[in-house]
Amino acid sequence: MRSRTLVPTLGAFLEGEEAAHSSAPPDWIHLLTGLARAGTRIARVVARTGLTGTLPRTGDRNIHGEAATRIDQYAHNAVVEEVAADEMLCCIISEEAEDHMSIPSSHPDGGCILALDPLDGSSNLGVNVPVGTIFSLLPRARPDATDCGSDDETGCRSDDAPGSALAPSEILRPGRDQIAAGYILYGAATVLVYTSGRGVHGFIRDPESGEFLLNRRDMRIPSPSALHYSTNEAYTRRWDPRQHDLVRHFKRPPPKGAKGFSARYIGSLVADIHRTLLVGGLFMYPAFRGKPEGKLRLMYEAAPMALIMEQAGGRATNGTEDILDLRPRDIHQRTPLFAGARELVDLAACHLGREATDSE
Ligand code: AHG
Ligand code: MN
Ligand code: MN
Repeated sequence: MRSRTLVPTLGAFLEGEEAAHSSAPPDWIHLLTGLARAGTRIARVVARTGLTGTLPRTGDRNIHGEAATRIDQYAHNAVVEEVAADEMLCCIISEEAEDHMSIPSSHPDGGCILALDPLDGSSNLGVNVPVGTIFSLLPRARPDATDCGSDDETGCRSDDAPGSALAPSEILRPGRDQIAAGYILYGAATVLVYTSGRGVHGFIRDPESGEFLLNRRDMRIPSPSALHYSTNEAYTRRWDPRQHDLVRHFKRPPPKGAKGFSARYIGSLVADIHRTLLVGGLFMYPAFRGKPEGKLRLMYEAAPMALIMEQAGGRATNGTEDILDLRPRDIHQRTPLFAGARELVDLAACHLGREATDSE
């Protein structure tokens, strides 16, 4: 067993390599340690829920009309409690909150925005399937004249004194602007994976010490990638014909002597993405009749996962356009998501970018 003393903890890695090389503002790392503390709390509650096999439902519905569970709300509260006091933070966007939460930040450059899916995949908890927390950190961008022109009825403010309320144009930033992004996966082990633009690094929580220990430095999607495609085929009858054609391509018998594709789908985005990061493949949550923009949210599901994918040598699109280039119209905007090995995401874009013909 490798001596644990040689393996850097998350804190040591952040104070050392991260601080030395990252292009992110130096004190963002306190936010990541706050998120790791929240992850430790959430992992403990997730384990208990798995044991009881029941999902404490609040009885009400979240802002997306989905049955909210107390554990989604617990996860939201745990993160807010662990990071809200950090002067680096000026705003929190959460799947569990209708509007963004402005936080007076005394940080000289105005601080940053945390976009959060506090608990992803929680509907799977009752059957003990891995779930996760997804986070994205964006800089507080100054609304410039062009930005404000598009929504002057919202009274975009030009005063950018720290602590002033944020204008929509400061919040609705494309994923390319992210300072950092990542997830915490609550599975057989609790792992934390993040990028701040200098590669993707994975940490595993040591249940004895409680420390997150570096176990995957500079993660890269394998090339050649595993021949996996990952999507919920229950929606096949509602797909665009080109999506049909793409999945039919995956199902065709492989050339003689070559390996064919196999299907993998967990139904928990963080778990599906983690597998794709480790072995490759193509994760797809397409748009379909009834869900014209797909199901996944751009700011706190697709964009953070897209930054991870690109930093690991992969790619993420909405089928044809890079996710990181998409500017959100609102904080809960949905988007189709195709993410994974670059060659497979490119193949999907070829199929989906073609003119649809009636014959398909
Ligand atoms: P959340 O629990 O945050 O609402 O996210 C659930 C999402 C995501 O985890 C997963 O990829 C997707 O729901 C699965 O949707 P389907 O059940 O429609 O396949
Ligand atoms: Mn989610
Ligand atoms: Mn969620």
